[in-house]
Amino acid sequence: MFRAGSRRTQDTGPAAEALRLVKVSKTYGTDGGAVKALDGVTLGLGRGTFTAVMGPSGSGKSTLLQCAAGLDRPDSGIVQVDGTELTAGSEAELTRFRRGRIGFVFQQYNLLDTLTVAQNTVLPLKLAGQRVDRGRAREVLTQVGLGDRLGHRPGQLSGGQRQRVAIARALVAEPRVIFADEPTGALDTRSARDVLRLLQEAVRVHGRTVVMVTHDPVAASYADAVLFLADGRLVGRMDAPTADAVAERLAHLGDDVTVGV
Ligand SMILES: Nc1ncnc2c1ncn2[C@@H]1O[C@H](COP(=O)(O)OP(=O)(O)OP(=O)(O)O)[C@@H](O)[C@H]1O
Ligand SMILES: [Mg+2]
Repeated sequence: MFRAGSRRTQDTGPAAEALRLVKVSKTYGTDGGAVKALDGVTLGLGRGTFTAVMGPSGSGKSTLLQCAAGLDRPDSGIVQVDGTELTAGSEAELTRFRRGRIGFVFQQYNLLDTLTVAQNTVLPLKLAGQRVDRGRAREVLTQVGLGDRLGHRPGQLSGGQRQRVAIARALVAEPRVIFADEPTGALDTRSARDVLRLLQEAVRVHGRTVVMVTHDPVAASYADAVLFLADGRLVGRMDAPTADAVAERLAHLGDDVTVGV
Protein backbone atom coordinates (compact mmCIF):
# COMPACT_ATOMS: atom_id res chain seq x y z
CA MET A 1 0.00 0.00 0.00
CA PHE A 2 1.44 3.28 -1.10
CA ARG A 3 1.10 6.29 1.11
CA ALA A 4 3.40 9.24 1.54
CA GLY A 5 5.89 8.12 4.14
CA SER A 6 4.61 4.57 4.47
CA ARG A 7 7.27 3.21 2.15
CA ARG A 8 10.17 4.73 3.97
CA THR A 9 13.03 2.33 4.21
CA GLN A 10 15.71 2.23 6.93
CA ASP A 11 17.29 5.65 6.72
CA THR A 12 15.13 8.76 6.79
CA GLY A 13 17.73 10.95 8.49
CA PRO A 14 19.35 14.02 6.98
CA ALA A 15 21.78 11.92 4.96
CA ALA A 16 19.03 9.99 3.16
CA GLU A 17 18.67 10.45 -0.55
CA ALA A 18 16.15 12.82 -2.07
CA LEU A 19 16.02 10.83 -5.29
CA ARG A 20 16.98 7.27 -6.10
CA LEU A 21 16.55 5.53 -9.43
CA VAL A 22 17.42 1.86 -9.82
CA LYS A 23 17.68 0.38 -13.32
CA VAL A 24 14.95 2.59 -14.70
CA SER A 25 14.00 1.81 -18.30
CA LYS A 26 11.37 3.31 -20.56
CA THR A 27 10.54 2.43 -24.16
CA TYR A 28 8.11 4.41 -26.31
CA GLY A 29 6.19 2.68 -29.10
CA THR A 30 6.31 -0.97 -30.05
CA ASP A 31 8.14 -3.34 -32.39
CA GLY A 32 9.80 -1.62 -35.34
CA GLY A 33 8.88 1.85 -34.04
CA ALA A 34 10.11 1.29 -30.51
CA VAL A 35 12.48 3.88 -28.99
CA LYS A 36 14.36 3.04 -25.81
CA ALA A 37 14.31 6.47 -24.15
CA LEU A 38 15.84 5.25 -20.86
CA ASP A 39 18.05 2.19 -20.66
CA GLY A 40 18.71 1.05 -17.10
CA VAL A 41 19.45 4.34 -15.36
CA THR A 42 20.68 4.05 -11.77
CA LEU A 43 21.47 7.13 -9.70
CA GLY A 44 21.15 8.61 -6.24
CA LEU A 45 21.01 12.29 -5.30
CA GLY A 46 21.47 13.55 -1.76
CA ARG A 47 19.08 15.95 -0.09
CA GLY A 48 19.88 19.61 -0.52
CA THR A 49 21.80 19.15 -3.76
CA PHE A 50 21.46 20.94 -7.11
CA THR A 51 22.04 18.65 -10.08
CA ALA A 52 22.00 19.46 -13.78
CA VAL A 53 21.19 16.83 -16.40
CA MET A 54 22.72 17.28 -19.83
CA GLY A 55 23.03 15.35 -23.06
CA PRO A 56 22.16 15.48 -26.75
CA SER A 57 18.62 16.04 -27.98
CA GLY A 58 16.72 12.78 -27.71
CA SER A 59 19.09 11.31 -25.09
CA GLY A 60 16.24 10.85 -22.61
CA LYS A 61 16.59 13.87 -20.31
CA SER A 62 12.91 14.83 -20.26
CA THR A 63 11.87 11.19 -19.96
CA LEU A 64 14.22 10.83 -17.00
CA LEU A 65 12.70 13.87 -15.29
CA GLN A 66 9.11 12.80 -16.01
CA CYS A 67 9.74 9.32 -14.59
CA ALA A 68 11.62 10.69 -11.57
CA ALA A 69 8.81 13.18 -10.85
CA GLY A 70 6.06 10.57 -11.16
CA LEU A 71 4.53 12.31 -14.19
CA ASP A 72 5.27 9.21 -16.26
CA ARG A 73 5.83 5.58 -15.33
CA PRO A 74 8.94 3.64 -16.26
CA ASP A 75 8.50 0.17 -17.80
CA SER A 76 10.83 -1.28 -15.21
CA GLY A 77 13.01 -0.19 -12.33
CA ILE A 78 12.42 1.70 -9.12
CA VAL A 79 11.98 5.41 -8.43
CA GLN A 80 12.17 6.70 -4.87
CA VAL A 81 11.58 10.31 -3.90
CA ASP A 82 12.42 11.29 -0.36
CA GLY A 83 12.45 7.63 0.67
CA THR A 84 9.02 6.82 -0.82
CA GLU A 85 8.72 4.49 -3.78
CA LEU A 86 6.75 6.14 -6.59
CA THR A 87 6.67 3.04 -8.73
CA ALA A 88 4.67 1.09 -6.13
CA GLY A 89 1.28 2.75 -5.78
CA SER A 90 -1.92 3.60 -7.59
CA GLU A 91 -2.39 6.66 -9.77
CA ALA A 92 -4.38 8.50 -7.09
CA GLU A 93 -1.78 7.81 -4.43
CA LEU A 94 0.97 8.93 -6.76
CA THR A 95 -0.85 12.18 -7.56
CA ARG A 96 -1.34 12.93 -3.87
CA PHE A 97 2.31 12.29 -3.12
CA ARG A 98 3.44 14.39 -6.06
CA ARG A 99 1.36 17.37 -5.02
CA GLY A 100 2.87 17.40 -1.57
CA ARG A 101 6.50 16.54 -2.20
CA ILE A 102 7.39 17.41 -5.77
CA GLY A 103 7.55 20.68 -7.68
CA PHE A 104 7.91 20.90 -11.44
CA VAL A 105 9.05 23.80 -13.64
CA PHE A 106 8.61 23.54 -17.42
CA GLN A 107 10.34 25.39 -20.24
CA GLN A 108 7.06 26.97 -21.39
CA TYR A 109 5.88 27.99 -17.88
CA ASN A 110 2.50 26.17 -18.11
CA LEU A 111 0.61 28.93 -16.31
CA LEU A 112 -3.15 29.30 -16.69
CA ASP A 113 -3.87 32.53 -18.57
CA THR A 114 -7.28 33.07 -16.99
CA LEU A 115 -5.95 33.01 -13.43
CA THR A 116 -4.04 35.79 -11.73
CA VAL A 117 -0.43 35.41 -10.71
CA ALA A 118 -1.51 34.79 -7.12
CA GLN A 119 -4.11 32.19 -8.16
CA ASN A 120 -1.61 30.38 -10.38
CA THR A 121 0.88 30.31 -7.54
CA VAL A 122 -1.39 28.68 -4.97
CA LEU A 123 -3.00 26.26 -7.44
CA PRO A 124 -1.03 23.23 -6.16
CA LEU A 125 -2.34 23.91 -2.63
CA LYS A 126 -5.92 24.18 -3.91
CA LEU A 127 -5.58 20.97 -5.90
CA ALA A 128 -4.28 19.27 -2.79
CA GLY A 129 -7.44 20.41 -1.00
CA GLN A 130 -5.60 22.66 1.42
CA ARG A 131 -7.05 25.88 2.77
CA VAL A 132 -5.11 28.69 1.23
CA ASP A 133 -3.95 31.46 3.48
CA ARG A 134 -4.07 34.73 1.54
CA GLY A 135 -0.65 35.70 2.77
CA ARG A 136 0.98 32.58 1.33
CA ALA A 137 0.86 33.71 -2.31
CA ARG A 138 2.27 37.11 -1.38
CA GLU A 139 5.03 35.53 0.67
CA VAL A 140 6.23 33.14 -2.02
CA LEU A 141 5.82 35.69 -4.83
CA THR A 142 7.82 38.23 -2.83
CA GLN A 143 10.53 35.61 -2.55
CA VAL A 144 10.81 35.49 -6.36
CA GLY A 145 10.61 39.29 -6.69
CA LEU A 146 6.98 39.53 -7.81
CA GLY A 147 5.27 40.65 -4.61
CA ASP A 148 3.77 43.61 -6.50
CA ARG A 149 2.23 41.52 -9.31
CA LEU A 150 -0.32 39.41 -7.45
CA GLY A 151 -3.35 40.56 -9.45
CA HIS A 152 -1.71 40.50 -12.89
CA ARG A 153 -2.43 37.82 -15.49
CA PRO A 154 0.42 35.81 -17.02
CA GLY A 155 -0.19 37.62 -20.35
CA GLN A 156 0.86 40.89 -18.70
CA LEU A 157 4.27 39.53 -17.67
CA SER A 158 7.59 39.03 -19.43
CA GLY A 159 8.93 35.51 -20.03
CA GLY A 160 11.33 35.80 -17.13
CA GLN A 161 8.55 36.98 -14.81
CA ARG A 162 6.30 34.13 -15.94
CA GLN A 163 9.01 31.64 -15.17
CA ARG A 164 9.43 33.18 -11.73
CA VAL A 165 5.68 32.68 -11.14
CA ALA A 166 6.17 29.06 -12.22
CA ILE A 167 8.99 28.76 -9.69
CA ALA A 168 6.80 30.31 -6.99
CA ARG A 169 4.15 27.71 -7.86
CA ALA A 170 6.75 24.94 -7.63
CA LEU A 171 7.89 26.24 -4.22
CA VAL A 172 4.50 26.96 -2.65
CA ALA A 173 3.85 23.48 -1.29
CA GLU A 174 7.40 23.36 0.12
CA PRO A 175 8.29 20.24 -1.89
CA ARG A 176 11.30 18.11 -1.12
CA VAL A 177 12.39 17.88 -4.74
CA ILE A 178 11.98 20.37 -7.58
CA PHE A 179 12.38 19.15 -11.15
CA ALA A 180 12.96 21.73 -13.88
CA ASP A 181 13.06 20.86 -17.58
CA GLU A 182 15.03 23.55 -19.44
CA PRO A 183 13.63 26.30 -17.18
CA THR A 184 15.87 28.91 -18.84
CA GLY A 185 15.47 27.60 -22.39
CA ALA A 186 13.12 30.40 -23.47
CA LEU A 187 14.75 33.23 -21.50
CA ASP A 188 17.30 35.96 -22.17
CA THR A 189 20.59 35.84 -20.29
CA ARG A 190 19.53 38.13 -17.46
CA SER A 191 16.17 36.46 -16.80
CA ALA A 192 17.92 33.09 -16.98
CA ARG A 193 20.36 34.21 -14.31
CA ASP A 194 17.49 35.31 -12.03
CA VAL A 195 15.80 31.93 -12.42
CA LEU A 196 19.04 30.03 -11.79
CA ARG A 197 19.72 32.06 -8.66
CA LEU A 198 16.23 31.28 -7.37
CA LEU A 199 16.78 27.58 -7.91
CA GLN A 200 20.17 27.84 -6.22
CA GLU A 201 18.57 29.69 -3.29
CA ALA A 202 15.89 27.00 -2.98
CA VAL A 203 18.74 24.55 -2.39
CA ARG A 204 21.17 26.61 -0.31
CA VAL A 205 18.74 28.58 1.83
CA HIS A 206 15.70 26.29 1.99
CA GLY A 207 17.40 22.90 1.73
CA ARG A 208 15.38 21.68 -1.24
CA THR A 209 16.76 19.32 -3.84
CA VAL A 210 16.77 20.57 -7.43
CA VAL A 211 17.21 18.50 -10.60
CA MET A 212 17.41 20.62 -13.75
CA VAL A 213 17.69 19.63 -17.40
CA THR A 214 19.59 22.17 -19.47
CA HIS A 215 21.46 22.50 -22.75
CA ASP A 216 23.41 25.49 -21.50
CA PRO A 217 26.84 24.93 -19.88
CA VAL A 218 26.52 28.29 -18.08
CA ALA A 219 23.20 27.22 -16.53
CA ALA A 220 24.74 23.87 -15.59
CA SER A 221 27.58 25.66 -13.79
CA TYR A 222 25.06 26.90 -11.18
CA ALA A 223 24.54 23.27 -10.11
CA ASP A 224 26.68 21.29 -7.65
CA ALA A 225 27.05 18.45 -10.16
CA VAL A 226 26.19 17.55 -13.73
CA LEU A 227 24.98 14.16 -14.92
CA PHE A 228 25.55 13.38 -18.60
CA LEU A 229 23.08 11.27 -20.52
CA ALA A 230 23.52 9.69 -23.97
CA ASP A 231 21.19 7.20 -25.66
CA GLY A 232 19.16 6.75 -22.49
CA ARG A 233 22.18 5.88 -20.35
CA LEU A 234 24.19 7.79 -17.78
CA VAL A 235 27.63 8.25 -19.26
CA GLY A 236 29.31 10.61 -16.85
CA ARG A 237 29.22 12.91 -13.86
CA MET A 238 31.06 16.13 -13.07
CA ASP A 239 31.21 17.71 -9.64
CA ALA A 240 31.73 21.47 -9.14
CA PRO A 241 31.15 22.11 -12.85
CA THR A 242 32.45 25.18 -14.67
CA ALA A 243 30.85 26.27 -17.95
CA ASP A 244 34.08 25.60 -19.87
CA ALA A 245 34.60 22.14 -18.39
CA VAL A 246 30.97 21.21 -19.12
CA ALA A 247 31.19 22.40 -22.73
CA GLU A 248 34.38 20.42 -23.18
CA ARG A 249 32.82 17.26 -21.73
CA LEU A 250 29.71 17.62 -23.91
CA ALA A 251 31.92 17.71 -26.99
CA HIS A 252 33.39 14.32 -26.03
CA LEU A 253 30.32 12.61 -24.58
CA GLY A 254 30.57 9.53 -26.77
CA ASP A 255 34.04 8.76 -25.36
CA ASP A 256 32.79 8.09 -21.84
CA VAL A 257 31.85 4.75 -20.40
CA THR A 258 28.44 4.03 -18.86
CA VAL A 259 28.40 4.58 -15.11
CA GLY A 260 26.04 4.35 -12.17
CA VAL A 261 26.23 7.29 -9.79
N1 LIG B 1 5.65 10.42 -26.01
C1 LIG B 1 6.60 9.88 -26.78
N2 LIG B 1 6.29 9.00 -27.77
C2 LIG B 1 7.25 8.43 -28.51
N3 LIG B 1 8.55 8.68 -28.38
C3 LIG B 1 8.93 9.55 -27.44
C4 LIG B 1 7.98 10.20 -26.60
N4 LIG B 1 8.64 11.02 -25.75
C5 LIG B 1 9.95 10.89 -26.06
N5 LIG B 1 10.13 10.00 -27.07
C6 LIG B 1 11.43 9.59 -27.64
O1 LIG B 1 12.27 9.18 -26.59
C7 LIG B 1 13.60 9.67 -26.78
C8 LIG B 1 14.00 10.52 -25.59
O2 LIG B 1 13.17 11.69 -25.59
P1 LIG B 1 13.33 12.85 -24.53
O3 LIG B 1 12.22 13.80 -24.76
O4 LIG B 1 13.46 12.25 -23.18
O5 LIG B 1 14.74 13.47 -24.96
P2 LIG B 1 15.47 14.79 -24.44
O6 LIG B 1 16.86 14.37 -24.04
O7 LIG B 1 14.65 15.48 -23.43
O8 LIG B 1 15.59 15.66 -25.77
P3 LIG B 1 15.53 17.26 -25.97
O9 LIG B 1 16.89 17.77 -25.55
O10 LIG B 1 15.34 17.42 -27.44
O11 LIG B 1 14.41 17.82 -25.16
C9 LIG B 1 13.59 10.41 -28.11
O12 LIG B 1 14.05 9.54 -29.11
C10 LIG B 1 12.14 10.74 -28.31
O13 LIG B 1 11.81 10.83 -29.67
MG1 LIG C 1 13.62 17.32 -23.40
